[in-house]
Amino acid sequence: MDVSPFPYQGPLEPDQVRGRLDLVADLTERVTEHRVTALLGPRRYGKTSVLRRVASDVIAGGAAVVWVDLYEVASMADLAARLDDALARVTGTFAAKATKIAAAASLNLGLVRLELRAPTRERADPLLTTHALLEVLTRSAAETPTLVVVDEFSGIARVDGAAGLMRTHLQHHYQEMGLVFAGSEPSMMRTLFTEQAEPFYAQADLVEIGPLEAAEVVELVSRGFADTGRRAGSLPSRIAAFVEGHPQRAMQVADTAWRLVPPDGEADLATWEEALAGVRAATADGNERLYSGLQEGERGVLRVLASGGSIFGTAAEVLGLAGGTAQNARQRLVDRGHLLRVADRYVLVDPVFADWLRNRFPL
Ligand SMILES: Nc1ncnc2c1ncn2[C@@H]1O[C@H](COP(=O)(O)OP(=O)(O)OP(=O)(O)O)[C@@H](O)[C@H]1O
Ligand SMILES: [Mg+2]
Repeated sequence: MDVSPFPYQGPLEPDQVRGRLDLVADLTERVTEHRVTALLGPRRYGKTSVLRRVASDVIAGGAAVVWVDLYEVASMADLAARLDDALARVTGTFAAKATKIAAAASLNLGLVRLELRAPTRERADPLLTTHALLEVLTRSAAETPTLVVVDEFSGIARVDGAAGLMRTHLQHHYQEMGLVFAGSEPSMMRTLFTEQAEPFYAQADLVEIGPLEAAEVVELVSRGFADTGRRAGSLPSRIAAFVEGHPQRAMQVADTAWRLVPPDGEADLATWEEALAGVRAATADGNERLYSGLQEGERGVLRVLASGGSIFGTAAEVLGLAGGTAQNARQRLVDRGHLLRVADRYVLVDPVFADWLRNRFPL
């Protein structure tokens, strides 16, 4: 059995990343020049994958990568554990230095999580441990070329004082390391770097990850089929037109179609139709749940925009959407990453959800 060339569930391996050449080059230059960068973009747009690609290039160039994942970080102790995991996974010169510096502070890298769960009397203090681990990070990075990636950085907002603590340690070392923050909650990420009250205010250049170009989608579908001995026919351009540059949806639709085509076979119109039906069936429940969890004004705005209308147009009138309510709802949808502003238009981030809305509620 062939393995599908279109994985669509987790982050990709570095050599599976398609397109994104300019972004990878830009990020690589930024981390090499030690310009602190925040990578912003909607869910499933490939932030983690692109950074893994940059990280693997950096490692190939001889530097160390410390990859800190703050997804849903819940407390100071959890933050300490995440930092410890990140430090313990590094190898080479960095690891040797980090282990030594940690030992001098009575820290056993890789075991901090356990020490934070020890019976109360012997338990390490989470705040002091976090301080100490950040010290290990910055001191080791000062001695050896290092890239620090903080993925899902918006999680930091869940832990009181954590952003301030990280800034205190990192800010004196910006010029000694590559540092990239990435995150999916667009409004929270923006707030963390652009609001004066936030510790990381104006501390990073913001870089947006946009949709893939139609040509990149066409290329990735064609290549996946060709590499596995199948012909894609007109499928690549149909997929590109449907997914509007959404990377994960492009891969999901391509995967569904690919499974319908035997080795040496060729995709045709029926393949496309069956693949589309398959993706619709696989995502219908999720879309229904997502929709029913939204407020009424938000639902109205999504329905109007999915059908290509304006929240001030006739479609909005039909739904009884008042101007002010619609504008507020639209802003909330942007903040939560459901909508994206493209030039002067607002579009749904997820083309599959947009397609579901159009079919479920024709206007
Ligand atoms: N450059 C790319 N080429 C091909 N597929 C891609 C690319 N970028 C993303 N994808 C697809 O999107 C999926 C999600 O990628 P990834 O996890 O990197 O996104 P993310 O933005 O980090 O998502 P999240 O917001 O969930 O953290 C991948 O499994 C892959 O199918
Ligand atoms: Mg990610």
